[in-house]
Amino acid sequence: PPSLDRLRALPRAEVHVHLEGCLPVPQLEAWARRFGEPLPRPPGQLLRFDGLVDFLHFLDWACGLVRTREELAEAAYGFSQRLAASGTGYADLIFNPTHWRPWHGRLSAMIDALDAGFHAAEQDGLPPVGLCVSLLRTQSADAAVELVDTLVALRHPRVVALSIDGNEATAGHTGPRFAEAFRRAGAAGLKRTVHAGESSGPEGVRDAIEWLGADRIDHGVRAIEDPALMALLAERQIPLGVCPTSNLKLGVYPSIDDHPVDRLRRAGVPVSLNTDDPALLETTLEGEYALCQAAFGWTDAELRAVALTSIDASFANAGVKTRLR
Ligand code: HPA
Ligand code: ZN
Repeated sequence: PPSLDRLRALPRAEVHVHLEGCLPVPQLEAWARRFGEPLPRPPGQLLRFDGLVDFLHFLDWACGLVRTREELAEAAYGFSQRLAASGTGYADLIFNPTHWRPWHGRLSAMIDALDAGFHAAEQDGLPPVGLCVSLLRTQSADAAVELVDTLVALRHPRVVALSIDGNEATAGHTGPRFAEAFRRAGAAGLKRTVHAGESSGPEGVRDAIEWLGADRIDHGVRAIEDPALMALLAERQIPLGVCPTSNLKLGVYPSIDDHPVDRLRRAGVPVSLNTDDPALLETTLEGEYALCQAAFGWTDAELRAVALTSIDASFANAGVKTRLR
């Protein structure tokens, strides 16, 4: 099997990863000590998540510890360092302002702080990063439109896309609720990426395409339950940003042998591999490739094809894409 070094050398991008899930755990523990904030669980059990809802609560706690511009810029710089260490040439990085309590009402300052970190990283030869600003599934239509209008008015070149994440399971049929926000984002030239088919079934993926104009689906794996939907994804070449370890650790599938990524790929659906929340789920991008290589027996050519899909599916500019390929 290819060594991790060979997997790190595969030209590829990461297109489904959340800043909230990239804060290093020792750093979180140090910040919590400094502020006298109790840990949400005993230290040895900090990363034992009881499904997606528990995980999302943990994100609120973690992001609440990041309070200064310097700390945010450092988080961004550290993210780029982690990309370089994995041999990843570019990332679309999702961040969801609702998790970051100390920054509520200060979106512009938040984006500036992150941009400062990414800019410094690029100056030091680390890989470039585009930001996908994310809505939360449980937000209102008005809050969503307000966020998009703020983003569109800012026109910050670091921001490449509108995203939506969070729990779909209790949110019902929410495509219509977010359609106007996504329409405005698209009209302003932002790309659109949508978490669907993780905590929702295939109907959530259909919703993302029909109501939100998704350029890309985050997860999307439960499309496997609907052959007509799989055919649609293949025909329109709508890429899925698949995160195998996340799906195992947050309880979507019991084992990698049950995971549909290889069946989706064989059906002609464009799939990429991603970490979702590498620090909190204790994974790396090369680790995700190794996991699938071992489980599905992917050949070098198949690994290379998935890696190429990650570049094609990314929202990097044409120059970056050409350099990566
Ligand atoms: N699903 C939904 N929301 C999220 C996830 C996820 O996997 N990771 C971080 N926010
Ligand atoms: Zn995600």
